[in-house]
Amino acid sequence: MAANELHETARALVADDRGILAADESSGTIEKRFDSIKLESTEESRRAYRDMLFTTPGLEEHVSGVILYDETLRQSASDGTTFAKLLSGKGIIPGIKVDTGAKDLAGAPGEKVTEGLDGLRDRLEEYRGLGARFAKWRAVITIGDGIPTAYCIQVNAHALARYAALCQEQGIVPIVEPEVLMDADNDIETCYRATRRTLHKVFDELYHQRVDLEGILLKPNMVISGKGCSTQASADEVADWTLKCFQETVPATVPGIVFLSGGQSDEQASANLNAINSRGPQPWVLSFSYGRALQAPALAAWGGSAENVEAGQSFLSLRARCNSAAVAGRYSAEMEELARSS
Ligand code: 13P
Repeated sequence: MAANELHETARALVADDRGILAADESSGTIEKRFDSIKLESTEESRRAYRDMLFTTPGLEEHVSGVILYDETLRQSASDGTTFAKLLSGKGIIPGIKVDTGAKDLAGAPGEKVTEGLDGLRDRLEEYRGLGARFAKWRAVITIGDGIPTAYCIQVNAHALARYAALCQEQGIVPIVEPEVLMDADNDIETCYRATRRTLHKVFDELYHQRVDLEGILLKPNMVISGKGCSTQASADEVADWTLKCFQETVPATVPGIVFLSGGQSDEQASANLNAINSRGPQPWVLSFSYGRALQAPALAAWGGSAENVEAGQSFLSLRARCNSAAVAGRYSAEMEELARSS
């Protein structure tokens, strides 16, 4: 596979202030999301929801790629066009989640390891045939009493690098996602230390496993206070700690860093991304690959009803526009006010 194609795809995913819509919830996760609007999760309701998201008018102005789940990559829009074709027709690159989930790590209470390497080469070949040009693998690192352990960081970094090497072999850009969770009560400095240790090990493994860094994207957490911490760091502090952490660990050849939202509110995810991008030029593009922070208001407005498709789409448009502005460092709270008053 020509390295150039990988480099071009990776760069295209972070070009023009655009970012990625993560719509790759597994059947279990989407069921939890649908519970919030009291909608039964069926193959058809999942298809209808993704149809609403992907047919949003003008989505391509702010969204460069969409991460799909296995089932969704095989589904079609209401007019019979496969979702992969529909998206590529709009200039949006289809991607695919390829890990099979985070499971308890043996001998490490409270820690997880992500599975999905067995048979991955064959699955990637099939996914490429179905139109996927990039992929995602999410590793989960938990902060707590005595954790993360070096053992947990090591096995997850190793698996991420094995996945990334296999993706590149098939001409698929790997999104490398080591997520340090923000659910605990730790302060921002503890998040910084855990994220720095994790990224250091991830790039060590990527190097040893001969991964071409110009043909990957990194999808990390922001360095942020744990949800339960009594002092919540400001957007400026998040930007300072996050950039310090990446400058210390992420090689300049990586074309882009696309953040997960990780449980931040939609507006917080935009404000923090904006603060990060207001610090002047960095070696990498700093963009978004949000799931909840792009979808939450759209899901609530849609509510499972065909009559509310446009309402749902207008919320997705707004979040995509706000986050794209944040990539350019031009997001402001007034953008939210204007939308609310219109
Ligand atoms: P959130 O933005 O909701 O954290 O999801 C992004 C994602 O793809 C997690 O793997």
